[in-house]
Amino acid sequence: MIKSVLRTIGALIVVLFSVSANADRQPLLDSKTRFHPVISQTGMVVSQEMIASQVGADILAKGGNAIDAAVATGFALAVTLPRAGNIGGGGFMMIYLAEENKTIAIDYREMAPSEAFKDMFLNPEGDVDNRKAQFSIQSSGVPGTVAGLVHAQENYGKLSLKQVLKPAINLARNGITVTITLAESLAARSERLQSDAGTKKYFFKKDGAEYQPGDVIRQRDLAATLARIAANGAAGFYQGKTAAMIVDQMERTGGLITSADLESYVALERTPVCGDYRGSKVCAMPPPSSGGIHLVQMLNILEGWDLKALGHNSADYIHRLVESMRRAYADRSLYLGDSDFFPVPLAQLTDKKYASTLRQQIDLDHASRSEDVRPGLVDRAESTETTHFSAWDQWGNVVSNTYTLNFSYGSGISVDGAGFLLNNEMDDFSAKPGSPNGYGLVGGIANSIQPGKRPLSSMTPTIVFDPAGAPILATGSPGGSTIITVVMQMVLNVLEFDMGIAEATAASRIHHQWLPDNVYYESGVSADTLRLLREMGHIVNDQPRRLGASESIEANGDGVLFGAEDPRRHGSGAVAQPQK
Ligand code: DON
Repeated sequence: MIKSVLRTIGALIVVLFSVSANADRQPLLDSKTRFHPVISQTGMVVSQEMIASQVGADILAKGGNAIDAAVATGFALAVTLPRAGNIGGGGFMMIYLAEENKTIAIDYREMAPSEAFKDMFLNPEGDVDNRKAQFSIQSSGVPGTVAGLVHAQENYGKLSLKQVLKPAINLARNGITVTITLAESLAARSERLQSDAGTKKYFFKKDGAEYQPGDVIRQRDLAATLARIAANGAAGFYQGKTAAMIVDQMERTGGLITSADLESYVALERTPVCGDYRGSKVCAMPPPSSGGIHLVQMLNILEGWDLKALGHNSADYIHRLVESMRRAYADRSLYLGDSDFFPVPLAQLTDKKYASTLRQQIDLDHASRSEDVRPGLVDRAESTETTHFSAWDQWGNVVSNTYTLNFSYGSGISVDGAGFLLNNEMDDFSAKPGSPNGYGLVGGIANSIQPGKRPLSSMTPTIVFDPAGAPILATGSPGGSTIITVVMQMVLNVLEFDMGIAEATAASRIHHQWLPDNVYYESGVSADTLRLLREMGHIVNDQPRRLGASESIEANGDGVLFGAEDPRRHGSGAVAQPQK
């Protein structure tokens, strides 16, 4: 009797529980909020430096759109994150314009000066002189950042250029408080950076001492340069006083950039490379970035397997990623370069049939050796420090931008008087066929040095759309050669494994780039998994390493934005548009 009463009460509780569970709508945010993303119903900016994200979010609150916010953040990063934020470098910006339902790809990559030539970094023995390619005044390409940001703002922004530049000018003029991260980053490169008089003046104390956390760095020359851009647009950089200072420095120190190079530099709008992954459209940069092509190529190969069933970061999953990466990076070495100079076989590389040929070559139980994998198109004769930010506005416009000086602090050389660091992007060319660059990447004729050509990049700012065509993800990353594989794992984490953006960002990553034949992995990939990969024949790196730093925004289609800065880089920040 007691038993049956208890049973009845138990059954009642179950019924009540399930009724109340059914009565409640499944909380909208639950599945997306693991790992604590920032949430907004208006707009958001995510970048590698919190103050710069705040600058962008404030521009949104002033009525600016995602493009205004992104440009404001881009110029602010040139002040607050000098190791990668820049006006002396270059990059790529993807824009989605909601009203026109149009995706735009802006190429503001650096350009080889007109006096550059194929063998300019070879020593008398015919070997690559890495110091010259990476740290000399000749390692700088013609900077593209100002042309790119101004082009985006003037064509697609709502506010004035003056308005979006004002916060950066104020930060440079009034000073930024040195964080632990900035102090450490400058101190770690003190010797290299102090060897240039301008850089020493701008980033070290008068007596050469290093800045400490809590000190203030004022960048008055940079403020003046930014003010000239605010007053005159791109001409404030490529002509007049700033240009004269760049050319003067080149002439004094053996650099190649001339006033004609500066005047002729333009940002270019290119057709985005878009692929289809199980009905979702994935759009990224075309050449001179290799990012879009290889992102789509790898996704095409991977689409043929049920990855979700294999399980995230299982050995079988990682094996398939690695084998796809190996083949894409082999192709990169031969077929990729600036498409204005070399006929890049874009359509073939992103063709689903080609991907299926590559997929069939993959042994599902055993690793291939990179020495046995050659660039795969049969009918052709024959190639630390970047930063990404994303912005999204209340109207649904989206910006995904990656730009860089190449290495941390670029060449380490500043334009004296103008207050900014120069890139060392000429090292992204293939200085000699088969000779690895600063990221171990090899290339050939497709990416050889030629005047006016833009060096091949891996930067992969990306926008993903749901099957109905609405944007759902803006992402991208620094990390040199690892950028494309990091972005691909972000896309898969969201599309395939349904992770919220913060979880997708935090999840451990892996990387392979054909040569060297090595699987790189982050801590968090289990020892069991690594053992299984080794048993399949993979050469697995002996140490974990950190891969990339994505700064992403995801939309859930219900008007909620989820932003996640990458915890791998301290100081980064997702900032929601402040409420009125
Ligand atoms: O354009 C490229 O592919 C390289 N210059 C990117 C350099 C980079 O990501 C450094 N960051 N960690």
